[in-house]
Amino acid sequence: MISGSAPGKVILFGEHAVVYGRPAIALPLPQIRASAEIAELDHAAGDGILLSAPQIGLHQWLHEMAPDAALGCAVRLTLDKLGVRPRRPLRLDLHSGVPIAAGLGSGAAVSVAIIRALSAYWQMPLSPADQSALAYEVEKIHHGNPSGIDNTVVAFEEPVFFVRGKPAQLFAIRAPFRLLIADSGDRVSTAQPVGELRRRWQADPAAHEAVFDEIQDLALAGRQRIEAGQVDDLGSLMNHNHQLLQLLGVSSPKLDQLVQAAQTGGALGAKLTGGGLGGMLIALVKDAEEAAVTAALIKAGAVQVLQVEVGK
Ligand code: PMV
Repeated sequence: MISGSAPGKVILFGEHAVVYGRPAIALPLPQIRASAEIAELDHAAGDGILLSAPQIGLHQWLHEMAPDAALGCAVRLTLDKLGVRPRRPLRLDLHSGVPIAAGLGSGAAVSVAIIRALSAYWQMPLSPADQSALAYEVEKIHHGNPSGIDNTVVAFEEPVFFVRGKPAQLFAIRAPFRLLIADSGDRVSTAQPVGELRRRWQADPAAHEAVFDEIQDLALAGRQRIEAGQVDDLGSLMNHNHQLLQLLGVSSPKLDQLVQAAQTGGALGAKLTGGGLGGMLIALVKDAEEAAVTAALIKAGAVQVLQVEVGK
């Protein structure tokens, strides 16, 4: 059995502003992964590649899939890039340990897992930059006008300071820190907040650009603190970033309630992460406060809380 896997991600600073050219910081979540496994089938089984993803009820041959189906595109683009075609029928089993449509990069993680499995099967390694470029083509199907941050952090599996259209700047985390990732339970496609914000920006570009500039300052300060090992300072920067995301209209009453619960429960800071309107929030915690903040989040309605160590 040949397989490939790829991590989920969180955006620590700068979501949405990154679509408008400002920098953002994203971190891979190596503990939370999507996987793709390839098995060879008998010739009698059918023709081409059978994609199976029980979590989304998919069990379909590639040639039967719509041309714009994201998973099928990930396969087709990779085969074209490698310049190969299967000589015998293959089965591609997909599984996402990354919650779907929750702002943790599930789409990019599954795409990169597919790309890695296929390149391993054909024994033709692809660089992280190539993996990222392929996954970006698929991301365009997921959300129309993606900045490219998700495919970049997922393919490189390193903390990334990302500016749209520029090569990824990978950077080191000087001192590890702990994040809680809390699920609001609401599922919203990234295209929705991105599209709604675009319309508000068109109506009043100056006001929105000013907010994006403030978010840029937070991303710059965040990188500086991470590289200096001053991770406690990230908390107030995260709180401020959440306020600016509220101002942009991409938070939700539930996310606000959870962010507040984390803050009053003892977190150093908290903010929504990803597209917003639903999905996930992140809270920065000290070891000693982790259990109390987790309990506060569950009490305030989080449906799940993941505990991750970043930079270890
Ligand atoms: O895919 P998500 O929900 O993590 O959101 C990506 C971040 C956005 O800035 C909202 C969109 C983008 O393309 O960068």
